[in-house]
Amino acid sequence: MLNDIKYNFDEEINRKNTNCAKWDGLEKYFGYSDLNPLWVADMDFKTPVFINDAIIESAKNSVYGYSIDTPKLYNSIINWQKNEHNWEIKQKNIFMINGVVPAYSACIEAFSEIGDEVIVQTPIYPPLFKCVNANNRKVVVNELIKDENGYYTMDLEDLENKITTKTKILAFCSPHNPVGRVWSKDELEKLADICIKHNIIIVSDEIHSDLSFKKFTPLASINERIAMQTITLNSAGKTFNIAGLNCAYAISKNEELLNKFKKIAFKREIQSINFFGYISTQAAYENGSLYVKELKKYIMENILFTKSYFEENNTKIKFHIPEATYLLWLDFSGYNLSHNEIKEKLLQNCKLALNDGVSFGSNGNKFFRLNCALNKNALKVALEQLFREFK
Ligand SMILES: Cc1ncc(COP(=O)(O)O)c(C=O)c1O
Repeated sequence: MLNDIKYNFDEEINRKNTNCAKWDGLEKYFGYSDLNPLWVADMDFKTPVFINDAIIESAKNSVYGYSIDTPKLYNSIINWQKNEHNWEIKQKNIFMINGVVPAYSACIEAFSEIGDEVIVQTPIYPPLFKCVNANNRKVVVNELIKDENGYYTMDLEDLENKITTKTKILAFCSPHNPVGRVWSKDELEKLADICIKHNIIIVSDEIHSDLSFKKFTPLASINERIAMQTITLNSAGKTFNIAGLNCAYAISKNEELLNKFKKIAFKREIQSINFFGYISTQAAYENGSLYVKELKKYIMENILFTKSYFEENNTKIKFHIPEATYLLWLDFSGYNLSHNEIKEKLLQNCKLALNDGVSFGSNGNKFFRLNCALNKNALKVALEQLFREFK
């Protein structure tokens, strides 16, 4: 019985020598192979058994030819969005793609012309501005506002002031990576009002939505007007630790918008999905509700453990408890050190691989992002390493 399963997030797992970017990519990405990796956004937890079983069952046939999206797959997505986020969508609103980032890049091409402007709210997940440049569009930075507690809000006045006739897209991250905000309905409505007024398409990256610790509202679920202005990108990849299986989906109730997107998706050939991608996504959404509850509980325990560890040790590192995700946005500005000095200490003395804050935008100066989705013992070891230098 699925409901009886308890998931064991304390289990030690070995990801070394498994072609794993997080562990085996340390030399390549950080220049040292002996670091403790708390960087890229996947989890050092096993994928739940119901996904693994579905993969193994499908592998028993020993044929890995091209696969197809079935009505069962769409129903699993429709039911998941309805049951977890109270969002009613239909199969015709969904289009399967091989990743949120490839889909985001396709959106840039679909909804703007070369030289047009795309607004990004920094600090933000780097591909959301890198893809803009790669498509020969211009990044317009609308910085988030940080208060003295490290809590971020949107600067909507600045956003509206920056809009020109060339501004075509808002790259929206909801919940926000790396600052961990789950935007309130009120914030979403205000943002959408501006975009509707200036006819800016909102590309809403909601990949972290299932890992929200407070009520998450899908932007396009608010009302019909907002739905018509929005294309949502999502995937089971983060929630169920299956990002390497490259299956994601776009949702829009605006048929014209979705058709424009599909045209570019076909041009870029990003609609063809890994054999295990469909299978794992369907298994995740059909069986994953209890797992997500338990996962979120464990992650929140890790976050609170880190917070009290910081407080007990009187560190000058600060962070606001995220409203979503296992990503901690650590502020090192309390130290009289430059960003590069902090970076070198983290690498050479602490032996930790964290994501460099500056890669999320210039307002990530003196910030580093720590991924706390790992078992409690391993987290404790990592925090001890951090405190070698940052007491
Ligand atoms: C906000 C955000 N969007 C997209 C992705 C990656 O999505 P995908 O692997 O489906 O391209 C990540 C991964 O960290 C992310 O944090």
